[in-house]
Amino acid sequence: MPHPIRGPSSSLGQRCAAVPPPPPWAPPLFFFSDLDYPQRMLSYQHAYHAGNLADFQKHALLAWMLAYLTDKPKPMTYIETHAGRGLYDLGGDEARKTGEAEAGISRALTEGWLPETHPLRQVLASVRREYGPDAYPGSPLIAETLLRPDDVIHLAELHPAEADALADAAPFAHLHREDGFAMANALCPPMPRRGLLLIDPSFEVKADYDRIPRFIGQIARKWNVGVIALWYPLLADARHGPMLKALQVAFPEALRHEVQFPPARPGHGMVGSGMFVVNPPFGIDEETRRLDAIFAGL
Ligand SMILES: C[S@@+](CC[C@H](N)C(=O)[O-])C[C@H]1O[C@@H](n2cnc3c(N)ncnc32)[C@H](O)[C@@H]1O
Repeated sequence: MPHPIRGPSSSLGQRCAAVPPPPPWAPPLFFFSDLDYPQRMLSYQHAYHAGNLADFQKHALLAWMLAYLTDKPKPMTYIETHAGRGLYDLGGDEARKTGEAEAGISRALTEGWLPETHPLRQVLASVRREYGPDAYPGSPLIAETLLRPDDVIHLAELHPAEADALADAAPFAHLHREDGFAMANALCPPMPRRGLLLIDPSFEVKADYDRIPRFIGQIARKWNVGVIALWYPLLADARHGPMLKALQVAFPEALRHEVQFPPARPGHGMVGSGMFVVNPPFGIDEETRRLDAIFAGL
């Protein structure tokens, strides 16, 4: 029987059209009252932004780190607090409305920013072989593509329709329809012990900026061998500043990698993006230098 929301089959169009219209496509940089969190309606939808320059930085580093971790013959755990729907349609209304993917992954492929051997290119090729030339893998699908049968994946997604789509896109993962911070706190330290946690909030809630340093501190105490990666926007009003300062005081050895790029639209508040990585894998500097050279040329 066809699923009432997802529809009868698993074609890319149906998988990616799982979210009811009409979502606002404003950037995720405004705040709801923190009092009703997380019961409030989630309004951010990554389909408008998938494959943009911020995703390019995040997904290139994530794919590189997962390829590094899966190169060793020991099982690992991947945990993601804010997963999204996992598979995006760059030919869909949302992506075409903003044109962000056009300036991001589409341009990257046309201009050959990454070599074909790069793990993100390899994941993209594999996903497009399966779902067609407009498919774009979100971070959960990057993980599902690179991880091996003995590895374990835990994904949290609060938005019901995004979570439904994610269940289709990442069928081998453990899907948690709950607050990602609570999920990660309950799971850590995970088994297998080696692994990576990705924290990729939409920053819809102002409290996210305050809670993230505390949250990463708690996780790092419980899971001192885990790679803990946070994505964050660089905002014209520097709202991310205090969070970064607190993280750098707590984790002076961590990797802080930031790239700047032209705003997606005139007046758009996001002028770049960053990744803060506690326990970064050996050799990641080579990858960050590659990204620095790409973004310097924009
Ligand atoms: C930036 S998107 C994720 C994109 C994804 N990480 C990727 O790179 O493909 C953030 C997602 O987090 C979800 N979300 C927001 N607050 C959440 C929470 N407290 N726990 C779990 N998911 C949440 C939103 O519904 C949204 O789908």
